[in-house]
Amino acid sequence: MPRSGVREIFDMARAVPDLVHLEIGEPDFSMPTHITEAAIQALRDGFTRYTPNAGLEELREAISEKLKRENEIDADPSGEILVTAGSMEALSLSALSTINENDEVVIPDPGYVSYEAEVLLAGGIPVPVPLREENDFGLKMDDIEKVVTKKTRLLIMNYPSNPTGAVIRREDLKEIADFVTDRDILVLSDEPYERLVYPGNRHYSIAALPGMLEHTISVFSFSKTYAMTGMRIGYAVSGKELIRQMTKMQEHYVACVNTVAQKAAVAALRGPQTCVEAMLKEYTRRRDAVIEGLSKIKMMTCRKPAGAFYAFPNISKSGQDSKTFGTSLLEEAKVATVPGAAFGRRGEGHIRLSFATSVQNIREAIRRIAEYCAKTFPE
Ligand SMILES: Cc1ncc(COP(=O)(O)O)c(C=O)c1O
Repeated sequence: MPRSGVREIFDMARAVPDLVHLEIGEPDFSMPTHITEAAIQALRDGFTRYTPNAGLEELREAISEKLKRENEIDADPSGEILVTAGSMEALSLSALSTINENDEVVIPDPGYVSYEAEVLLAGGIPVPVPLREENDFGLKMDDIEKVVTKKTRLLIMNYPSNPTGAVIRREDLKEIADFVTDRDILVLSDEPYERLVYPGNRHYSIAALPGMLEHTISVFSFSKTYAMTGMRIGYAVSGKELIRQMTKMQEHYVACVNTVAQKAAVAALRGPQTCVEAMLKEYTRRRDAVIEGLSKIKMMTCRKPAGAFYAFPNISKSGQDSKTFGTSLLEEAKVATVPGAAFGRRGEGHIRLSFATSVQNIREAIRRIAEYCAKTFPE
């Protein structure tokens, strides 16, 4: 299995002093106080034992209500929802319970680093589908048709997207839904950034389309929405048969998710959502600061992220590959980013900037990048 290209840059970044960090894909906010209080209270109340493999009933009910309210997905709390250790475990269980040896799995390129690894671990063959910059990194039917064969079992998609910050149009989702239903291909829709969507944009879940619940495993997370990455909690939603298979596996992997995290998750869903709105407002300010700053750097072009907290500027005018460019930026400009090639062949010619950091850090990083580019790539 290949080592993640993201880890490589993380290791290098640790060794360089005075860096501005734009490589980290994790909220810098603290977990909201009412969620922390609920976790502490859960400990005091003795919620330190196993729960059912699928998760606390109370939590599955809260998730079912949220799915109806926000995603237009109608999922039965007993049988169509599985609480997992972050979306990561949901991705693993999805891959393991759907992929047979040598099944082909379509993965987004550029895409989140773990998809390829999850497919390989399950014995499948990852088949990248290009997400084109000229299509705003949307997943298009023309491109899917070119890579799908009789051996295709699963199509993995991720919107709002890491690393591109793109969202997908509802019309595209409809076309994809018709296609996969005809071919009996399952969709694994990874949606951890569902609530990080900037004004004027919208996120749609493919499982909300008629008949798609059984054809999709939808994966959600508490990590990014509520700044609780370390609590390790997320969930998978699908038809009863797939969730039954995944729950069976869950028993032998982790038995159940940490009970305190499950109680915290109930508080997150049932408590006030003003914390989510406040964080989104701040991310919007940061996104605008990144885009405004980058617009002044002539050798880069950058699409405005519609969701998540990543910008994915095109650096191909530098004439360098993304690893060379990212390494020089780290060593000379003292700004850590992730080379686009870490996200697949189609990520080449880009770098990923995470704006899960303060506006002050963003302005300083952009200042350093601009100075470095002006010096290194004079017009
Ligand atoms: C697209 C995507 N999927 C899944 C994850 C995993 O998140 P978690 O396991 O914390 O829910 C991440 C984390 O960065 C991500 O960017």
